[in-house]
Amino acid sequence: MLGFLSTTRTTSSVFRVSTGIRELDEALEGGIPKGSWVAITGEPGTGKSILCMHFAWAGLLAGDPVVYITTEAEFRDVVRQAKMFNMDFESRRIHDISSREEPSETPEIVVIDIFGLLKIARQLTESYESTSGEGAKEIVKKKRFAALDIQTLIAAIHEAYRILGVLREEKAKSPYRHVRLIIDSMSAFWADKPAMARKYSYDLKIATHRENVTAYLVSQYAMTTRSTFGFGLEHIADGVFHLWMENVEETREVKRYMIIKKMRMTNHAKSAFKLDIIPGRGVVLELIK
Ligand SMILES: Nc1ncnc2c1ncn2[C@@H]1O[C@H](COP(=O)(O)OP(=O)(O)OP(=O)(O)O)[C@@H](O)[C@H]1O
Ligand SMILES: [Mg+2]
Repeated sequence: MLGFLSTTRTTSSVFRVSTGIRELDEALEGGIPKGSWVAITGEPGTGKSILCMHFAWAGLLAGDPVVYITTEAEFRDVVRQAKMFNMDFESRRIHDISSREEPSETPEIVVIDIFGLLKIARQLTESYESTSGEGAKEIVKKKRFAALDIQTLIAAIHEAYRILGVLREEKAKSPYRHVRLIIDSMSAFWADKPAMARKYSYDLKIATHRENVTAYLVSQYAMTTRSTFGFGLEHIADGVFHLWMENVEETREVKRYMIIKKMRMTNHAKSAFKLDIIPGRGVVLELIK
């Protein structure tokens, strides 16, 4: 356990961020290079969301502020699921962005689920309407922000940084402390327009990619085409963890695997891991020799 309590370890001047899973850290020369964007791709039920919980939990143990965006489930379901694996998020100072009140103490983790995104979308729309003035009705109409707009996501992330107190001044874009960012999943933002995946990934990266932000971005995998749902994120990411399952109709059981497809600045393991999800522990990886 102690192996990943420190947030960063340095190998040849690269700061490494723990994934919360010892075998994975070892396969990455100590962890993910700080400031990387890691795409987590895979079919339903392969363990993507649980991998995110480990990454967030390792951050809390290490004292890193965490921004946790969950479009797939309400955060209380994330908490419930994580508890089954001995990660007790409730014991930490959590602030839900959809809350009406500002936190009385600086939180350790800011949570953004669909209700939080709705609130930010409403605020964006209101502030746009109030600044656009007379005669701009046409534009105002077009600028009604939705919860799953990429601009809403970007605004929500900046609001989370403000609440976490990691910006030196209100208008600053870059956190001065190391932050962990989790987006589960990105696919929700291009669900009705998969051709936009690459552009949206770029927009997000330009707006939020900073040397002090290490991110996990989940991307769902389309079973039918055997490719990620929406093309683009994998190219923009600095690293890719790909998860899959053997054909259950043939094997008649759930057999999961994971492979590090890429990780910049890292001589990472090239073989796959067998991936198990175990009560009380969560994702357990074993490198296939
Ligand atoms: N308490 C538990 N003990 C053991 N295994 C569990 C437990 N809870 C969940 N699992 C396993 O974890 C799987 C879900 O993993 P996870 O939610 O990370 O998948 P995912 O890749 O995020 O899927 P999706 O794309 O549908 O979001 C379940 O299908 C189940 O097999
Ligand atoms: Mg999931």
